[in-house]
Amino acid sequence: MFYPAYRGRRIRGNEVFRRMVRETALSVNDLIYPMFAAFGSGIRKEISAMPGIYQLSVENIVAEAREAHELGIPAVILFGIPEYKDATGSSACLEHGVVQEAVRALKKELPGLAVITDVCMCEYTDHGHCGVIRDGDVDNDATLELLSKEALSHVRAGADMVAPSDMMDGRIGAIREALDFNGFSHVPIMSYAVKYASGYYGPFREAAESAPQFGDRRSYQMDPANRLEAIREAAMDVAEGADILMVKPGLPYLDIVREVRNEFNLPVAVYNVSGEYSMVKAAARNGWIDEERVVMETMIAFKRAGADLILTYHAKDVARLLAKR
Ligand code: PBG
Ligand code: ZN
Repeated sequence: MFYPAYRGRRIRGNEVFRRMVRETALSVNDLIYPMFAAFGSGIRKEISAMPGIYQLSVENIVAEAREAHELGIPAVILFGIPEYKDATGSSACLEHGVVQEAVRALKKELPGLAVITDVCMCEYTDHGHCGVIRDGDVDNDATLELLSKEALSHVRAGADMVAPSDMMDGRIGAIREALDFNGFSHVPIMSYAVKYASGYYGPFREAAESAPQFGDRRSYQMDPANRLEAIREAAMDVAEGADILMVKPGLPYLDIVREVRNEFNLPVAVYNVSGEYSMVKAAARNGWIDEERVVMETMIAFKRAGADLILTYHAKDVARLLAKR
């Protein structure tokens, strides 16, 4: 196709034509809204680096989720800020733990809203790592047992789906087996299959009060330089029974989203993480970018890269903008 026979501007020059040939679409059905469930009552504490995002106690999380639900957002994903933390993250598996109670309240008040839970230990351990520590590093196989218990406690409370984010080897298989053995073979697992050791999680660690107290997460989260390893990680999770594959973070890893989309025949999710959100909010507050425009461009980029689902703190804003169009 060469000029002058081909002129891209013939079609591009007309808004109706642009609409007709648009290759990618974004729907409110694609959105998953992350929320922080805090132990206690009367809590509605904004996260300083994430304007508009709050730590919420149960009654407030229901109100916030109701708003998302009324905007047409189909699902939320919950993180917990527990009453106490210890070396083994025992507050992650309590029958009446913070996430378990939030799940119960949400399913009671908003039965049509899908409730997904993040399954990891870092929000519940006093050292902030994603598993139990032995000899200065996370003990993989000992952690699998705790993750299975945690996932089971979420599902017993009524969670519709669990999403393990710990990056231990074998966790999808371990959790799948625990769920199946206890009568929950119908509950799907969304795996944080390809999760990189990323600086973009900074604001989240303030939000979830989960920053590691020593070292970093490089012995379990992936090296940002690796692409082939992403396929190995995802393949392992597919073999172990994952139902949805997630890539995280989002914007710096669109190439990986495309790889996973091309390689596997499962729904693909992408996590537009806290640092990505904070950067947009900060630039918008300074008047340096047009927030609505940048947010919608980011969302369509995820879809174009091959994502089916988008976990994003912008979910309510995106739903409002979609309704306006
Ligand atoms: C817990 C977890 C993290 C995020 C989701 N689950 C943080 C981490 O691994 O350090 C990050 C989400 C975000 O930055 O928005 N393992
Ligand atoms: Zn973790």
